[in-house]
Amino acid sequence: MQYDSHNKFATTTVFLHWLVGLTIIGLLATGIYMSENGVYALYPWHKAIGFLVLFVALARVIWRTKNGWPSAAANYRPIEHKLASIVHWVLIIATLLMPISGLMASVLGGHGLSVFGLEVFAPNYSVEDPEKTLPINYDLSKAGGAIHYYLGYTVIVALMLHIAGALKHHFVDNDGTLKRMLGKSIKA
Ligand code: HEM
Ligand code: HEM
Repeated sequence: MQYDSHNKFATTTVFLHWLVGLTIIGLLATGIYMSENGVYALYPWHKAIGFLVLFVALARVIWRTKNGWPSAAANYRPIEHKLASIVHWVLIIATLLMPISGLMASVLGGHGLSVFGLEVFAPNYSVEDPEKTLPINYDLSKAGGAIHYYLGYTVIVALMLHIAGALKHHFVDNDGTLKRMLGKSIKA
């Protein structure tokens, strides 16, 4: 198995970063769009893709613990290094907590979850009115919804810092930080 080295990241690292990263960006955008505008047709897609990304995010965390953290591509200032690590932690935790809180909100809210036609959690239909769904645990579902909402906006701030950092390293410092995450070899 090829692990990350200082000069080159493993294909697995690059692949998992962009698969999880681009999917999360898509989910943040569709999540806000659908909930702000009440576009209910998008909900099943958002929920299914959000659920599937949880497994890839878990694989990524396991890969990161086996692989260790990569050494900085260049001589970052200590404050930059600290900020980058805090942002990475927020992003990693969010890749796990966003799907989990979304699941809590939906499933404990009684709405169930289907992944492209495969029912993973059944909706909790009311006995009196089978057209209606009832919460399984109202308080926990509301807590999940609140985490999903506030963490969603926290991730957007963290991401702006993350992307600004990547662009600064590439265009201002001209170092190999972004190149390495694009799978290229960099000078030692
Ligand atoms: C256009 C969007 C993005 C760009 C340009 C970008 C760029 C980068 C770069 C250059 C690194 C390497 C940093 C280093 O070597 O110190 C990195 C690492 C990382 N990025 Fe991103 N990223 C993006 C989106 C995301 C998203 C959406 C997430 C989270 C869900 C994310 C999570 C991480 C994490 C956790 C790391 C630490 C290294 C690792 O675990 O593989 N990134 N990113
Ligand atoms: C990494 C995965 C995910 C991300 C980044 C994400 C992001 C978001 C964002 C930013 C919103 C808009 C803010 C809000 O109204 O809460 C949202 C809404 C929503 N998400 Fe997610 N989500 C993810 C996974 C999931 C999953 C797995 C489910 C359910 C199984 C889910 C269910 C929902 C629902 C039902 C809403 C609408 C809430 C409302 O209308 O009040 N999400 N999501």
